[in-house]
Amino acid sequence: MADYTPTPEDRFSFGLWTVGWQARDPFGDATRPPLDPVETVHRLAELGAWGVTFHDDDLLATESDRDKAVAAFRKALDDTGLVVPMATTNLFTHPVFKDGAFTSNDRDVRRYALRKVMRNLDLAAELGARTYVCWGGREGAETDAAKDVRAALDRYKEALDVLCGYVRDKGYDIRFALEPKPNEPRGDILLPTIGHALAFIGELEHPEMVGLNPEVGHEQMAGLNFVHGVAQALWHGKLFHIDLNGQHGIKYDQDLVFGHGDVKSAFFLVDLLEHGGYDGPRHFDYKPTRTEDIEGVWQSAAANMRTYLILKERAKAFRADPEVQEALAASRVTELAVPTLAPGETYEDLAKDDFDPDEAGRRGYHYARLDQLAVEHLLGAR
Ligand code: GCO
Ligand code: MN
Ligand code: MN
Repeated sequence: MADYTPTPEDRFSFGLWTVGWQARDPFGDATRPPLDPVETVHRLAELGAWGVTFHDDDLLATESDRDKAVAAFRKALDDTGLVVPMATTNLFTHPVFKDGAFTSNDRDVRRYALRKVMRNLDLAAELGARTYVCWGGREGAETDAAKDVRAALDRYKEALDVLCGYVRDKGYDIRFALEPKPNEPRGDILLPTIGHALAFIGELEHPEMVGLNPEVGHEQMAGLNFVHGVAQALWHGKLFHIDLNGQHGIKYDQDLVFGHGDVKSAFFLVDLLEHGGYDGPRHFDYKPTRTEDIEGVWQSAAANMRTYLILKERAKAFRADPEVQEALAASRVTELAVPTLAPGETYEDLAKDDFDPDEAGRRGYHYARLDQLAVEHLLGAR
């Protein structure tokens, strides 16, 4: 039996707001007390996590004096060795952001939002964060009458261009990661999917400084294939960070424990992350369900990491299985890596092929066998 105990080498990280979520929802009050960020840092370190991430406002959960809160957080990091790989800004809780932050129709709000981000960028840089996430939860609308989307995208671009300029002027070693989400809390959010965000990045002044922080549930709540989205982000060199969690299909954003939603997709995702050239943090952005008490919070935190390690071991076994290798070749999965034209060939050479489309049309690809092998490895039956 493999050892599924996480260590800092696994580079698992958690947001303070994840375990710290008090489980307030639109229908009910909090079911848990606030968590002191210092305690969170210690508990995460004990569980084998490597990093902790935060929104500016998360640090103030139990201490309203910012300087004191930062000092206590910094001491907890020093005491435990936990690192801060990423930080972000809360641009969604306060009523001032009800129509958005970078894309609010109110220009004064947009200016305030930029100030809020820059202030936390200074702290992020001080704490050694290399990634700064921008989740535009309030950037959007409930009615198409309310938002000139083309102007909103101009302002979104302006905000990122200003922030990239700020990071460059200050000499910070920080890149931005946009986090797409289709809806919730807004009826429709701008940059709703990985694909929209990738296209947007190409229009920025410093596209090399901006990538993605895709979240499992955010693509799946739109019915999209998260593994395909992440693969495309990797292909573009834009997978700067990732939010791992669980989701059951098209519904509200569940933020379940990683693997507690579509576990088969989670298996292929871990396989992709482990073998597809991603070397960033494995960041969990989940919410312990409202029914958990504090003990359940820490059990659920541990579950994210353990599930990841189990799936990592399962994916490795899948790849190492000689029958899988044979099945991959039989299904021509490996043939896709061969360029369609040989070196030196041009389109004129295509006419020389001796090819029978009817015969090729009769050939099966045997993906069902391959899929079954994956399912059996996932279930531990092989
Ligand atoms: C969500 C989002 C957030 C962001 C976080 C970072 O759906 O609530 O995923 O959790 O990731 O706020 O800005
Ligand atoms: Mn989410
Ligand atoms: Mn997220």
